[in-house]
Amino acid sequence: MRLIMLGAPGAGKGTQAARVAAQLSIPHISTGDIFRANLKNGTELGLKAKEYMDAGKLVPDELTCDLVADRLQQSDCGGGFILDGFPRTIPQAEALDKVLEKLGVSIDYAVDIDVPDEAIVNRMSGRRACVGCGATYHIAFNPPKVEGVCDKCGAKLILRDDDKPETVQTRLSVYHDQTQPLIDFYKKKDKLVQVDGTMPMDDVFAAILNVIGK
Ligand code: AP5
Ligand code: MG
Ligand code: ZN
Repeated sequence: MRLIMLGAPGAGKGTQAARVAAQLSIPHISTGDIFRANLKNGTELGLKAKEYMDAGKLVPDELTCDLVADRLQQSDCGGGFILDGFPRTIPQAEALDKVLEKLGVSIDYAVDIDVPDEAIVNRMSGRRACVGCGATYHIAFNPPKVEGVCDKCGAKLILRDDDKPETVQTRLSVYHDQTQPLIDFYKKKDKLVQVDGTMPMDDVFAAILNVIGK
């Protein structure tokens, strides 16, 4: 199964993509996680991406598309994959189409997780992210077993730099300008499925499995 997760920042793409990936045994590919891992390792890509991420802006397509193209050609993607946070612009979606065409495959579904802006701002201030493995928690809706410590790897949990309220506002307006048009893009291709992302996490997960026929 080849899936794309669409949705505003904080809609729950990462939370759900991780669960769907585990359920279907396919890799979870998050461009945000790849950029954060690069930053942690001090690579040139990570340092370049940080400028944009901290400002709530998109990392330029030329830094993003090749990275995903390389990743999709790795052998673990042969049986499918789930893309989280890519594509985020029409040019990225067109670049993805080209890569998939070259590989002789196509997307099964683009899953849009729909959450209104008001709910997003509340969610982001409670999010905590693991500095070790990138796992995501929420202090009220999905707390770790031990406060401030990742259940999966034991590393520290932090508030992401780009989750400050003013940066979240910028990310939301960037989403409406540049990413929301992808909903129509995939609707026209007859690939779009939508779920209500304001439900509890387990219900969102069940709804996703239902719309992708799993
Ligand atoms: P990225 O890391 O992709 O961030 P994002 O899209 O802004 O989305 P988030 O990760 O913030 O939210 P999410 O939808 O994954 O929600 P989550 O599951 O964590 O990108 C960061 C930056 O990198 C971008 O701003 C950009 O600069 C750059 N970038 C990345 N990809 C790029 C690309 N393709 N092109 C250009 N630039 C790119 O959930 C959020 C919170 O809500 C969590 O605390 C969670 O526990 C909680 N939650 C989840 N579901 C529920 C629920 N149902 N009920 C209650 N709480 C919930
Ligand atoms: Mg995410
Ligand atoms: Zn961790």
